[in-house]
Amino acid sequence: MKPWGGRFKEGTDPLLERFSASIDFDRKLYRHDIKGSKAHAEMLEKIGILTKAERNAIVKGLNEIEKEIESGTFPFSDALEDIHMHIETRLIEKTEAGKKLHTGRSRNDQISLDMRLFVKDELEGLEEGLAALLRVMVWKADTEISVMMPGYTHLQRAQAVPFSHYLLGHYYALKRDRARLRAAHATADALPLGSGALAGSTIPLDREWVRKRLGFARVSENSMDAVADRDFIMDAVFAAAMIMTHLSRLAEDLILFTSQEYGFIALPDKLTTGSSLMPHKKNPDALELVRGRTARVLGDLFGLFALLKGLPFTYNRDLQEDKEPMFHALETARDALSIMTLCIDGMTVLRHTMEKAASESFMPAVELAEYLTIKGVPFREAHGIAGAAVRECEGSGILLDRMPLARLKKLSPLFEKDVFEYIKPRNALRVRKSKGSASFDEVKKAIDAEKKYLGL
Ligand code: ARG
Repeated sequence: MKPWGGRFKEGTDPLLERFSASIDFDRKLYRHDIKGSKAHAEMLEKIGILTKAERNAIVKGLNEIEKEIESGTFPFSDALEDIHMHIETRLIEKTEAGKKLHTGRSRNDQISLDMRLFVKDELEGLEEGLAALLRVMVWKADTEISVMMPGYTHLQRAQAVPFSHYLLGHYYALKRDRARLRAAHATADALPLGSGALAGSTIPLDREWVRKRLGFARVSENSMDAVADRDFIMDAVFAAAMIMTHLSRLAEDLILFTSQEYGFIALPDKLTTGSSLMPHKKNPDALELVRGRTARVLGDLFGLFALLKGLPFTYNRDLQEDKEPMFHALETARDALSIMTLCIDGMTVLRHTMEKAASESFMPAVELAEYLTIKGVPFREAHGIAGAAVRECEGSGILLDRMPLARLKKLSPLFEKDVFEYIKPRNALRVRKSKGSASFDEVKKAIDAEKKYLGL
């Protein structure tokens, strides 16, 4: 007999039982479900629905159930649909008092409670994982602070930058995700319990007491919203999707940088895999999987949007489908953060190839134009002159610094011998001054500030 079986003449079709069961995935919520039930039972005693003995029997039973689930002896069955019915049914087997636990409560406010507790925990874990990555990135930037590399736009060599500045570029994107995780945590931080199925209860539940007991910042304001609302899941999964998107862009760069074509970094053996056919291969699978899994996390987010957009107010069973994408998105982001932390920590920066690439290019054309600009040539004209210099060099197969001064002077009489020092790639990294620019001074300041922020 199902807990809701009273009005039914016949049992559920076994196919529907299998089709509707969520226990295979929502069992993950058992600890949060038990935590919520204990708080509910304690409150029911406080308002006189349970005697002290009944409450104690319920709490004892719930503790035993937790141990049974943890040790693998708990009996699971599709017939009991979800984690809530499993725990309640088992509790009633253990104590008659269990029959009073569901007073003033519905699975609708219960599932919202469980998921809010779960999401808050997961977001805290994600933030720890994110902070660990941020620390490693700052550490790496600091260690390799003097390395120069080409910075790219359109995947073409654009301007020389410190490698540390490049790495911190990705760092700041991920730092913003930390704020997003905290914002998602705040969204989840409302107690829905006490909203019942959708309308609350005639039983004088003390929601404020339960709120304090479970550590929520506030109680939900509207019982219908409370059971229909999945914004906290959207916010959490969106934060995870942003983290994945940032990690995926970083992974894409690092995959390119490990290729022989770039040769900018090397990953340790333990973070790469080989080929079953080609003995020489060392593949960046870890990073490729970060990029690939991002696709699935985006799928989780879009799936949730689709799930919610047409739902009539308030609870509908469709909402059961929110769990798997949520679990998947949050777990994947957590794992991806750990993998990326290992990759950044373990990678070797191949300074020689990076600096060679930064030197063997026409990137100093920018400084060539700026040299003239500082001497009073309108930038647009200076741009044209530097462009002409590049064209000439390309024609004769040399780099800008090999151009004879006499030829440069033909393009502009303002060029002097000091131009060759001025256009050395490393010089720009010393001379750039504007706040946040790709210069050694600025990156040093940034590293100091971020070390402080991270408590390093
Ligand atoms: N397993 C359900 C879910 O995940 C719990 C709530 C069930 N409520 C209901 N009215 N059938 O959404």
